Amino acid sequence: MIEHFHLRIREIIQETSDCKTFIFENSDLRYKAGQFLTFIIPSGITRIRRAYSFCTELRTDNFPGVTVKLVENGAASRYMLNSWQVGDEVECIQPAGKFIFDENAEGELILFAAGIGIVPIYSILKQALHSSKIQRIHLFYSNRSKESTIFLQQLSQLEHQFPNKLLIKWFFSDSFRILDARINSDLIDTFFKKQTLTNKEQVHVFACGPESFMYLVEVRSLSSGIPKQNYHQEVFYREDSESHTPHKFKDGNFEVIVHKDGKTYTMLVAGNQTILSQAIKNEIPLTWSCASGRCSTCMCKLDSGKVYMSRNEVLTDRDLLKGSILTCTSYPQEGPISLHFK
Ligand code: FES
Repeated sequence: MIEHFHLRIREIIQETSDCKTFIFENSDLRYKAGQFLTFIIPSGITRIRRAYSFCTELRTDNFPGVTVKLVENGAASRYMLNSWQVGDEVECIQPAGKFIFDENAEGELILFAAGIGIVPIYSILKQALHSSKIQRIHLFYSNRSKESTIFLQQLSQLEHQFPNKLLIKWFFSDSFRILDARINSDLIDTFFKKQTLTNKEQVHVFACGPESFMYLVEVRSLSSGIPKQNYHQEVFYREDSESHTPHKFKDGNFEVIVHKDGKTYTMLVAGNQTILSQAIKNEIPLTWSCASGRCSTCMCKLDSGKVYMSRNEVLTDRDLLKGSILTCTSYPQEGPISLHFK
Protein backbone atom coordinates (compact mmCIF):
# COMPACT_ATOMS: atom_id res chain seq x y z
CA MET A 1 0.00 0.00 0.00
CA ILE A 2 1.34 3.46 -0.91
CA GLU A 3 0.98 5.58 2.20
CA HIS A 4 2.53 8.85 1.18
CA PHE A 5 1.04 10.44 -1.88
CA HIS A 6 0.49 13.84 -3.43
CA LEU A 7 -2.66 15.83 -4.01
CA ARG A 8 -2.88 18.72 -6.44
CA ILE A 9 -4.76 21.83 -5.31
CA ARG A 10 -7.65 22.59 -7.66
CA GLU A 11 -9.35 25.47 -5.87
CA ILE A 12 -8.93 27.59 -2.76
CA ILE A 13 -12.01 29.07 -1.09
CA GLN A 14 -11.67 31.84 1.49
CA GLU A 15 -14.27 30.84 4.08
CA THR A 16 -13.69 33.53 6.70
CA SER A 17 -10.85 36.02 7.26
CA ASP A 18 -8.57 33.33 8.73
CA CYS A 19 -9.89 30.13 7.23
CA LYS A 20 -9.65 28.53 3.78
CA THR A 21 -10.90 25.39 2.11
CA PHE A 22 -8.49 23.57 -0.18
CA ILE A 23 -10.14 21.46 -2.87
CA PHE A 24 -7.98 18.84 -4.57
CA GLU A 25 -8.02 17.50 -8.14
CA ASN A 26 -7.94 13.91 -6.94
CA SER A 27 -11.53 12.79 -7.44
CA ASP A 28 -10.51 9.13 -7.06
CA LEU A 29 -9.45 9.58 -3.41
CA ARG A 30 -11.54 7.24 -1.20
CA TYR A 31 -12.47 8.41 2.27
CA LYS A 32 -15.42 8.59 4.64
CA ALA A 33 -17.28 11.67 5.79
CA GLY A 34 -15.81 12.82 9.11
CA GLN A 35 -12.32 11.45 8.43
CA PHE A 36 -9.17 13.52 8.00
CA LEU A 37 -6.02 13.75 5.91
CA THR A 38 -2.59 14.10 7.48
CA PHE A 39 -0.35 16.54 5.59
CA ILE A 40 3.42 16.55 5.75
CA ILE A 41 4.54 20.13 5.93
CA PRO A 42 8.00 21.70 5.86
CA SER A 43 8.83 23.56 9.07
CA GLY A 44 12.34 25.00 9.32
CA ILE A 45 14.78 22.18 8.76
CA THR A 46 12.25 19.51 9.62
CA ARG A 47 8.84 18.29 8.44
CA ILE A 48 5.75 18.14 10.62
CA ARG A 49 2.50 16.20 10.34
CA ARG A 50 -0.85 17.82 10.85
CA ALA A 51 -4.30 16.33 10.37
CA TYR A 52 -7.17 18.29 8.80
CA SER A 53 -10.73 17.05 8.46
CA PHE A 54 -12.54 16.67 5.18
CA CYS A 55 -15.28 19.22 4.68
CA THR A 56 -16.48 17.26 1.68
CA GLU A 57 -18.20 13.92 1.31
CA LEU A 58 -18.19 11.53 -1.61
CA ARG A 59 -21.82 11.66 -2.73
CA THR A 60 -22.26 15.42 -2.63
CA ASP A 61 -18.83 16.65 -3.65
CA ASN A 62 -16.98 15.65 -6.81
CA PHE A 63 -13.60 16.60 -5.39
CA PRO A 64 -12.18 16.09 -1.90
CA GLY A 65 -11.35 19.08 0.26
CA VAL A 66 -10.17 20.06 3.71
CA THR A 67 -10.76 23.27 5.64
CA VAL A 68 -7.92 24.92 7.54
CA LYS A 69 -8.19 27.70 10.11
CA LEU A 70 -5.24 29.74 11.28
CA VAL A 71 -4.06 28.56 14.68
CA GLU A 72 -2.18 31.05 16.82
CA ASN A 73 1.50 30.00 16.76
CA GLY A 74 0.53 27.12 14.46
CA ALA A 75 3.37 26.64 11.99
CA ALA A 76 1.41 24.24 9.79
CA SER A 77 -1.78 26.26 9.40
CA ARG A 78 0.19 29.46 8.80
CA TYR A 79 2.27 27.77 6.12
CA MET A 80 -0.77 26.25 4.40
CA LEU A 81 -2.83 29.45 4.45
CA ASN A 82 0.03 31.67 3.30
CA SER A 83 1.88 29.45 0.86
CA TRP A 84 -0.43 26.95 -0.78
CA GLN A 85 -1.54 27.98 -4.26
CA VAL A 86 -3.81 26.48 -6.88
CA GLY A 87 -1.78 23.95 -8.88
CA ASP A 88 0.60 23.09 -6.00
CA GLU A 89 1.22 19.45 -5.16
CA VAL A 90 1.05 18.72 -1.45
CA GLU A 91 2.17 15.61 0.39
CA CYS A 92 -0.08 13.64 2.69
CA ILE A 93 -0.82 10.18 4.02
CA GLN A 94 -3.95 8.12 3.59
CA PRO A 95 -7.30 9.29 4.99
CA ALA A 96 -7.97 8.02 8.50
CA GLY A 97 -10.17 8.56 11.51
CA LYS A 98 -12.99 6.91 13.41
CA PHE A 99 -15.29 9.93 13.65
CA ILE A 100 -17.63 8.44 11.08
CA PHE A 101 -21.33 7.95 10.71
CA ASP A 102 -22.68 4.44 10.18
CA GLU A 103 -24.69 4.53 6.95
CA ASN A 104 -27.08 1.93 8.35
CA ALA A 105 -27.95 4.00 11.40
CA GLU A 106 -31.63 4.89 11.71
CA GLY A 107 -33.48 7.63 13.52
CA GLU A 108 -32.16 11.07 14.36
CA LEU A 109 -28.79 12.70 14.15
CA ILE A 110 -27.85 15.40 16.65
CA LEU A 111 -24.75 17.41 15.76
CA PHE A 112 -22.89 19.81 18.03
CA ALA A 113 -20.12 21.99 16.62
CA ALA A 114 -18.13 24.95 17.84
CA GLY A 115 -15.86 27.03 15.61
CA ILE A 116 -13.59 25.00 13.35
CA GLY A 117 -15.19 21.86 14.86
CA ILE A 118 -17.84 22.31 12.18
CA VAL A 119 -15.58 20.84 9.48
CA PRO A 120 -16.04 17.08 10.07
CA ILE A 121 -19.60 17.74 11.28
CA TYR A 122 -20.42 19.46 7.97
CA SER A 123 -19.08 16.47 6.06
CA ILE A 124 -21.18 14.03 8.15
CA LEU A 125 -24.23 16.27 7.87
CA LYS A 126 -24.06 16.21 4.06
CA GLN A 127 -23.77 12.43 4.09
CA ALA A 128 -26.73 12.04 6.46
CA LEU A 129 -28.95 14.39 4.47
CA HIS A 130 -28.87 11.79 1.73
CA SER A 131 -29.61 8.86 4.02
CA SER A 132 -33.26 7.81 3.83
CA LYS A 133 -32.88 6.08 7.21
CA ILE A 134 -32.25 9.35 9.03
CA GLN A 135 -35.50 11.20 9.59
CA ARG A 136 -34.22 14.39 11.09
CA ILE A 137 -30.94 16.20 11.73
CA HIS A 138 -30.44 18.87 14.39
CA LEU A 139 -27.31 20.98 14.28
CA PHE A 140 -26.26 23.14 17.24
CA TYR A 141 -23.52 25.41 15.98
CA SER A 142 -21.66 27.87 18.19
CA ASN A 143 -19.41 30.76 17.07
CA ARG A 144 -18.09 34.08 18.25
CA SER A 145 -19.98 36.05 15.59
CA LYS A 146 -21.68 35.66 12.22
CA GLU A 147 -18.54 36.95 10.48
CA SER A 148 -16.39 34.22 12.00
CA THR A 149 -18.86 31.43 11.18
CA ILE A 150 -17.44 28.87 8.78
CA PHE A 151 -19.91 27.53 6.16
CA LEU A 152 -22.58 30.05 7.24
CA GLN A 153 -23.97 30.40 3.71
CA GLN A 154 -23.64 26.77 2.75
CA LEU A 155 -25.47 25.62 5.88
CA SER A 156 -28.22 28.23 5.47
CA GLN A 157 -28.69 26.99 1.94
CA LEU A 158 -29.01 23.38 3.11
CA GLU A 159 -31.52 24.50 5.75
CA HIS A 160 -33.70 25.90 2.96
CA GLN A 161 -33.16 22.91 0.72
CA PHE A 162 -34.13 20.38 3.42
CA PRO A 163 -36.67 22.26 5.60
CA ASN A 164 -38.28 19.10 6.97
CA LYS A 165 -35.09 17.28 7.69
CA LEU A 166 -32.46 19.78 8.82
CA LEU A 167 -32.90 22.18 11.75
CA ILE A 168 -30.06 24.46 12.72
CA LYS A 169 -29.78 26.34 15.97
CA TRP A 170 -27.12 29.02 15.66
CA PHE A 171 -25.29 30.49 18.64
CA PHE A 172 -23.19 33.67 18.49
CA SER A 173 -21.39 34.67 21.65
CA ASP A 174 -21.62 38.36 20.65
CA SER A 175 -25.44 38.10 20.73
CA PHE A 176 -27.29 40.27 23.24
CA ARG A 177 -29.81 37.52 23.93
CA ILE A 178 -28.20 35.09 26.35
CA LEU A 179 -30.22 32.17 24.95
CA ASP A 180 -28.71 32.77 21.51
CA ALA A 181 -25.20 33.22 22.82
CA ARG A 182 -24.22 29.89 24.31
CA ILE A 183 -25.09 26.23 24.39
CA ASN A 184 -25.74 25.31 28.01
CA SER A 185 -26.72 22.21 29.95
CA ASP A 186 -30.37 23.22 30.46
CA LEU A 187 -30.82 23.73 26.77
CA ILE A 188 -29.33 20.33 25.95
CA ASP A 189 -31.36 18.55 28.66
CA THR A 190 -34.64 20.10 27.51
CA PHE A 191 -33.84 19.33 23.92
CA PHE A 192 -33.16 15.65 24.57
CA LYS A 193 -36.27 15.37 26.73
CA LYS A 194 -38.72 17.11 24.41
CA GLN A 195 -37.43 17.12 20.90
CA THR A 196 -35.76 13.81 20.22
CA LEU A 197 -37.20 10.37 19.75
CA THR A 198 -38.13 8.62 22.98
CA ASN A 199 -36.21 5.56 21.87
CA LYS A 200 -32.72 6.88 22.51
CA GLU A 201 -31.19 3.87 20.76
CA GLN A 202 -32.18 5.72 17.59
CA VAL A 203 -30.55 9.01 18.51
CA HIS A 204 -26.97 9.49 17.34
CA VAL A 205 -24.85 12.33 18.66
CA PHE A 206 -21.69 13.78 17.10
CA ALA A 207 -19.69 16.60 18.70
CA CYS A 208 -16.58 18.52 17.72
CA GLY A 209 -15.22 21.64 19.40
CA PRO A 210 -13.09 22.68 22.37
CA GLU A 211 -12.62 20.17 25.16
CA SER A 212 -14.98 21.87 27.64
CA PHE A 213 -17.67 22.11 24.95
CA MET A 214 -17.47 18.40 24.18
CA TYR A 215 -17.38 17.53 27.85
CA LEU A 216 -20.67 19.37 28.35
CA VAL A 217 -22.28 17.69 25.35
CA GLU A 218 -21.04 14.24 26.34
CA VAL A 219 -22.19 14.45 29.95
CA ARG A 220 -25.62 15.85 29.06
CA SER A 221 -26.12 13.37 26.20
CA LEU A 222 -25.24 10.32 28.26
CA SER A 223 -27.27 11.44 31.24
CA SER A 224 -30.23 11.99 28.92
CA GLY A 225 -30.10 8.31 28.04
CA ILE A 226 -28.13 8.36 24.79
CA PRO A 227 -26.32 5.00 24.65
CA LYS A 228 -22.56 5.35 24.95
CA GLN A 229 -22.00 3.75 21.57
CA ASN A 230 -24.20 6.40 19.95
CA TYR A 231 -22.05 9.27 21.21
CA HIS A 232 -19.06 10.28 19.05
CA GLN A 233 -16.60 13.09 19.39
CA GLU A 234 -13.54 14.35 17.56
CA VAL A 235 -10.73 15.96 19.52
CA PHE A 236 -9.05 18.89 17.75
CA TYR A 237 -8.04 21.15 20.54
CA ARG A 238 -6.25 19.27 23.28
CA GLU A 239 -2.84 20.43 24.41
CA ASP A 240 -0.28 17.71 24.94
CA SER A 241 0.32 17.12 28.62
CA GLU A 242 2.28 14.91 30.94
CA SER A 243 -0.58 12.40 30.90
CA HIS A 244 1.10 11.07 27.77
CA THR A 245 3.85 9.69 29.99
CA PRO A 246 3.23 6.23 31.39
CA HIS A 247 3.17 5.76 35.12
CA LYS A 248 5.42 2.76 35.19
CA PHE A 249 8.01 1.57 32.65
CA LYS A 250 9.11 -2.02 32.47
CA ASP A 251 12.87 -2.59 32.51
CA GLY A 252 14.66 -4.14 29.59
CA ASN A 253 14.00 -4.58 25.89
CA PHE A 254 11.11 -6.43 24.32
CA GLU A 255 10.90 -8.17 20.99
CA VAL A 256 8.21 -6.62 18.78
CA ILE A 257 7.17 -8.31 15.54
CA VAL A 258 5.20 -6.20 13.09
CA HIS A 259 3.15 -7.70 10.25
CA LYS A 260 2.23 -5.10 7.70
CA ASP A 261 1.37 -5.18 3.98
CA GLY A 262 2.59 -8.76 3.65
CA LYS A 263 5.95 -7.98 5.25
CA THR A 264 7.31 -8.84 8.68
CA TYR A 265 9.61 -6.54 10.66
CA THR A 266 11.27 -7.35 13.96
CA MET A 267 12.72 -4.84 16.42
CA LEU A 268 13.68 -4.48 20.05
CA VAL A 269 11.77 -1.82 21.97
CA ALA A 270 12.82 -0.62 25.41
CA GLY A 271 10.16 -0.56 28.13
CA ASN A 272 10.30 3.24 28.24
CA GLN A 273 9.88 3.71 24.48
CA THR A 274 6.71 3.69 22.46
CA ILE A 275 6.48 1.14 19.70
CA LEU A 276 5.98 3.89 17.13
CA SER A 277 9.03 5.89 18.21
CA GLN A 278 11.27 2.82 17.93
CA ALA A 279 9.71 1.88 14.57
CA ILE A 280 10.50 5.36 13.22
CA LYS A 281 14.12 5.00 14.39
CA ASN A 282 14.34 1.59 12.69
CA GLU A 283 12.72 3.00 9.52
CA ILE A 284 9.83 0.58 9.72
CA PRO A 285 7.07 2.17 7.63
CA LEU A 286 4.28 2.55 10.19
CA THR A 287 1.55 5.09 9.50
CA TRP A 288 0.97 7.82 12.04
CA SER A 289 -0.36 11.33 12.39
CA CYS A 290 -0.96 12.93 15.82
CA ALA A 291 1.53 10.72 17.74
CA SER A 292 -0.49 11.32 20.89
CA GLY A 293 -3.36 8.84 21.03
CA ARG A 294 -6.00 11.07 19.51
CA CYS A 295 -6.52 10.11 15.89
CA SER A 296 -6.28 6.30 15.41
CA THR A 297 -4.05 6.51 12.31
CA CYS A 298 -1.50 4.22 14.01
CA MET A 299 -4.07 1.63 15.17
CA CYS A 300 -3.24 -2.05 14.82
CA LYS A 301 -4.13 -5.36 16.44
CA LEU A 302 -2.14 -6.89 19.26
CA ASP A 303 -1.94 -10.64 18.59
CA SER A 304 0.30 -11.54 21.52
CA GLY A 305 2.23 -9.90 24.32
CA LYS A 306 1.18 -7.00 26.46
CA VAL A 307 1.51 -3.23 26.14
CA TYR A 308 0.69 -0.23 28.29
CA MET A 309 -1.24 2.48 26.45
CA SER A 310 -0.53 5.81 28.10
CA ARG A 311 -3.26 7.64 26.24
CA ASN A 312 -6.24 6.60 24.20
CA GLU A 313 -8.87 9.05 23.12
CA VAL A 314 -10.18 7.20 20.09
CA LEU A 315 -10.47 3.47 20.62
CA THR A 316 -13.83 2.34 21.98
CA ASP A 317 -14.37 -0.43 24.52
CA ARG A 318 -15.30 -2.67 21.62
CA ASP A 319 -12.02 -1.86 19.79
CA LEU A 320 -10.07 -2.66 22.95
CA LEU A 321 -11.87 -5.96 23.41
CA LYS A 322 -10.90 -6.88 19.87
CA GLY A 323 -7.26 -6.24 20.79
CA SER A 324 -6.75 -2.92 19.01
CA ILE A 325 -3.95 -0.68 20.25
CA LEU A 326 -2.35 2.63 19.29
CA THR A 327 1.34 2.21 18.58
CA CYS A 328 2.09 5.89 19.29
CA THR A 329 1.22 5.58 22.97
CA SER A 330 1.91 1.87 23.56
CA TYR A 331 4.91 0.84 25.68
CA PRO A 332 5.98 -2.80 25.84
CA GLN A 333 5.12 -4.65 29.02
CA GLU A 334 5.45 -8.31 28.14
CA GLY A 335 7.02 -9.89 25.08
CA PRO A 336 7.24 -11.17 22.51
CA ILE A 337 4.74 -8.69 21.13
CA SER A 338 3.15 -9.46 17.80
CA LEU A 339 1.21 -6.78 15.93
CA HIS A 340 -0.61 -6.76 12.67
CA PHE A 341 -1.92 -3.92 10.57
CA LYS A 342 -4.89 -4.28 8.25
S1 FES B 1 -0.86 8.54 15.53
FE1 FES B 1 -2.75 9.40 16.19
S2 FES B 1 -3.44 7.91 17.64
FE2 FES B 1 -1.48 7.24 17.10
